[in-house]
Amino acid sequence: MTGAAGPGRPAGSSSEQRTATEVLVVPLEPYTARGGPETASRAGEVASTSGRASGDAATPLVGHLAIARAAAMLAAGDVVAIPTETVYGLAANALSAEAVGRVYAAKKRPADNPLIIHVSSLAMLAALYPPGWTLPPIYQPLLRDLWPGPLTVLLPRSPLVPDAVTCGLPTMAVRMPAHPVALALIAACGFPLAAPSANSSGRPSPTLARHVAADLGGGVIPLILDGGACSCGVESTVLDALRSPPAILRPGGVTREDLMGYPGLEALQVYRKDFTDAALEAAPTTPGMKYRHYSPTAPVILLDPSAPAATASAAVATANGAGRNHSGNGSCDVEGLAARLRQATKALLAEMAHGIHEGGAPAPSGSAGPAAAPAGPASGHGPGAAGLSPAVDGGASGSSVPLGPPALELASQLAGGGPVGVLRTSLAGEPPGLLQQRAPATAAAGVGANGQADGAGGGSSRGAPAPQRVIEYVLGHVLRPADVAAELFAGLRALDEAGCAVIVVEGVADEGAGVAVMNRLRKAASRVVHV
Ligand code: TXA
Ligand code: MG
Repeated sequence: MTGAAGPGRPAGSSSEQRTATEVLVVPLEPYTARGGPETASRAGEVASTSGRASGDAATPLVGHLAIARAAAMLAAGDVVAIPTETVYGLAANALSAEAVGRVYAAKKRPADNPLIIHVSSLAMLAALYPPGWTLPPIYQPLLRDLWPGPLTVLLPRSPLVPDAVTCGLPTMAVRMPAHPVALALIAACGFPLAAPSANSSGRPSPTLARHVAADLGGGVIPLILDGGACSCGVESTVLDALRSPPAILRPGGVTREDLMGYPGLEALQVYRKDFTDAALEAAPTTPGMKYRHYSPTAPVILLDPSAPAATASAAVATANGAGRNHSGNGSCDVEGLAARLRQATKALLAEMAHGIHEGGAPAPSGSAGPAAAPAGPASGHGPGAAGLSPAVDGGASGSSVPLGPPALELASQLAGGGPVGVLRTSLAGEPPGLLQQRAPATAAAGVGANGQADGAGGGSSRGAPAPQRVIEYVLGHVLRPADVAAELFAGLRALDEAGCAVIVVEGVADEGAGVAVMNRLRKAASRVVHV
């Protein structure tokens, strides 16, 4: 079971003495009804049937050697990376300020960003409160139906939970993860685990054990439990039903539509989509508001199909729901939208290639360019746009796509070397993952102008003299946004690892599971282009 990245170490010893991180694979196969750990829906089913919110969520995994080892380390005050159905988490004893401090240190997480507390049973949650405490009624049916699962709820803070977890807030965030390894580990510990995503602060969240190792391996943390791929792939939905009207503070694996049928949640709002609040906005606690998030090393250019008025920054200026876009109120033509975005990518690549060809691009400038540009709507044309057409015909859709400044910035980046990454959905049913072995459709429009075909050379070419090469990563079918969400962070990381100088991302409809996807992408983006 040891896929060791190096020798382990005694729990509690200092990180300075540690040069390797141990990886223990926890095989779920013998413990699941239908097979391995590779999909979280299976994991969720196992958790649901064996645990359910009301019961003891312990599974046979509680006795597994790796679980016992991890539990001992956590009991000794150390941190351990663990799989959940959403993303990998970096866990510590939620009742120990010292242990929780190690989480912040390992992630380099700002000290004012509170953590989610993970429990394995409702009894464990109740034990955090004085005798006689009851769950607020509005949460009762939710937790009965949706736990274990990707739903985090805000509750009044327990007196047992240290400030290090809540950052001094009067509330605490709690969830029960739907992954048998996480559930078994928490049950084995007998205390709740505080666990943020197990990435270095600001990086895309990890959905595979090797993502954790890439960020926190090499001895930064002592142990990673490998429980396979996280099938949800985006973090939990953070719900505050203590406020009126209730609000989703962070969209995630449970959608607004999933929640709105419950009593008291009929008027549920999504923060920064439907409303804003000056106090929340000023607080670093509002999930993901204050700090840069989800960003690969390469700058990300997001092609956003939402009207600018529906973007986060515009919504902030537009109180209480004004500015909903065409896709905000229900279904839209997602296939048409995807086709429009594909055309926009072609236009962007063509304009970019033109910029390189004509010498229109400024010289490479290190940290300047998209990475340094503030995220936000790209509109009009700055002084650097000279030589590029002010608008590019979107092609078959007939839409006009003003891409000048970002195209020029991209050209600038590419002049420094490295391929363009394109992260996109599929209309044709291509399997998810990297497309490196053939010339992609998006490459044909403009990139071919420089006479280079995509792909055959593989992905690792940072610094190669073929800046126009395109590497595509397919997230999933456009009609299955939950599949797209599951691949999102893996896709960003894969294009980064492939050495892409920039990553162009085709957005998705801002509805259903797509709300969480667009939320993450807008935070990851160096530049948002409305198309
Ligand atoms: O799916 C998930 O939620 C994953 C897995 C590991 O469980 N965890 C996760 O944790 O995403 P993290 O730390 O990356 O994000 C937790 C978010 C933060 O944005 C934080 O601001 C918010 O939850 N949060 C925590 N406590 C809060 C509170 N009392 N009030 C408002 N927001 C809170
Ligand atoms: Mg996080």
